[in-house]
Amino acid sequence: MSKDSKPTIEDLKKTLTLIVGQENILFANDNADADTDNSKMQPYLEESRQRKVGVAFAVIFPSTTDEVAKVVGTCRFHKVPMIAQGGNTGRCFGCQTDNPNAVIVNLKNMNHIREIDVENQTVTVEAGCILQDLQTAVAEKGLFFPLSLGAEGSCQIGGNLATNAGGINVLRYGNTRDLTLGIEAVMSNGTVLNELFELRKNNTGYDLKNLLIGSEGTLGIITAATFKLFPPESNSEHGFIAVNSVTDAINCLQQAQKRFAGKLSSFELIPNIAIECMEKHSQLKCPIGNQHPWYIWYKIADANIDKPLFDENITFLDELMNDGLVIDATVSQNEAMKQHFWQIRETIVDVQKYEGISLKFDISVPISAIPILIEKGIAAAKVICPDIRPYPFGHLGDGNLHYNFTCPKTMTDEEYLSQYQDKLYETIHDMVDGLDGSFSAEHGIGSQKVADMKRYKDPVALDLMRKIKHSFDPFNLMNPDKVLPKK
Ligand code: MLT
Ligand code: ZN
Repeated sequence: MSKDSKPTIEDLKKTLTLIVGQENILFANDNADADTDNSKMQPYLEESRQRKVGVAFAVIFPSTTDEVAKVVGTCRFHKVPMIAQGGNTGRCFGCQTDNPNAVIVNLKNMNHIREIDVENQTVTVEAGCILQDLQTAVAEKGLFFPLSLGAEGSCQIGGNLATNAGGINVLRYGNTRDLTLGIEAVMSNGTVLNELFELRKNNTGYDLKNLLIGSEGTLGIITAATFKLFPPESNSEHGFIAVNSVTDAINCLQQAQKRFAGKLSSFELIPNIAIECMEKHSQLKCPIGNQHPWYIWYKIADANIDKPLFDENITFLDELMNDGLVIDATVSQNEAMKQHFWQIRETIVDVQKYEGISLKFDISVPISAIPILIEKGIAAAKVICPDIRPYPFGHLGDGNLHYNFTCPKTMTDEEYLSQYQDKLYETIHDMVDGLDGSFSAEHGIGSQKVADMKRYKDPVALDLMRKIKHSFDPFNLMNPDKVLPKK
């Protein structure tokens, strides 16, 4: 580029290619071989369930923080939007874009674990590391990283941070935010924020890491983080129980919290329809029959192996039975059974698709409000669409339900979505709002829930968020059109 001429697309391509090398960048419609290139790009353009297919000018795979910084600096110079991307397992279209000029910055090459500090019980890891790889690496050092979710075999740490992911252990350990001690991120002007502290106390002004966590790439690109680690859950017991009602399930939760206090890690609600669906579409069988209205899978765990929890678990279930709260139950006798229970919980999510499309919700309300939400939500949904199939499951222990609604058997996916999607989202989200709940508990906002931000988020909060966005990203290049609604 000559000194006075305007930067061109060719300049942009050349600079980006120089930063990461030709093998680490894909361009749309690049050359005669365009089809091949586009097909290579496809997995990075579309959402994993193919519910949204996006576009982009390029997908780039930097390998170091320095490369990310250079990519961001270059994109800013050319005023090109940047979409940070991890494992692409998100549910709210947070890392797809409709902008053909955008560059997708995929972090998968930044997958190193920089340090496991056994003494301080921390790990520093790059954004592209797959969650399960992190869990395994720290387990090999005799430690435990508690973030755990269905997509852990493919989701990446950067995405977990960007969405403040939750999962099945939030009840005991908190969500990603609660596990994070420090952060490294590339800001919109290409500078690097280095706050990879291992500190458990650090009151030195504004907590920038907590602004970046959950910001979905709209304030900067997270490149690494330092997390707390814990003693392993070497001594764990699982239970699988059946109850008559959600109110009974909550009573069981309260009993479990009283008895096991800090040892209760997971407490997940599963409806009958999910068990039926799982048995129909997978090889798995429910260990206590498929006729009960509601099921709970729970896990108690301790690091101390000298005091097995098995007997206490049995006593707990005996008490629940005597109180008439539980209609059937079984406990894990070995590792295979524990795996089986966890597989059931994972599989009920995957098999939904075989019954037609589901409208997916990710709401949270105070736990005491869950029975009323389930009862009234189902009644309201049936008024709108009489043959709808409610499929509510999820993290009862922390008040986060995936209050899904599957398409009626008699309808096509397209008919269902076009006729009912908007009305159902509005009805359920209004109800959640009326119960002082949240329309997004652990999956984020992406582009999918931007309109909900406008409808439900406190206007003062929105105004402050817009000001923060502007000061972090004055040219609105970092994942634009996500999270914040237009004024
Ligand atoms: C889960 O809890 O299994 C997931 O958050 C649900 C989903 O991926 O839709
Ligand atoms: Zn979930």
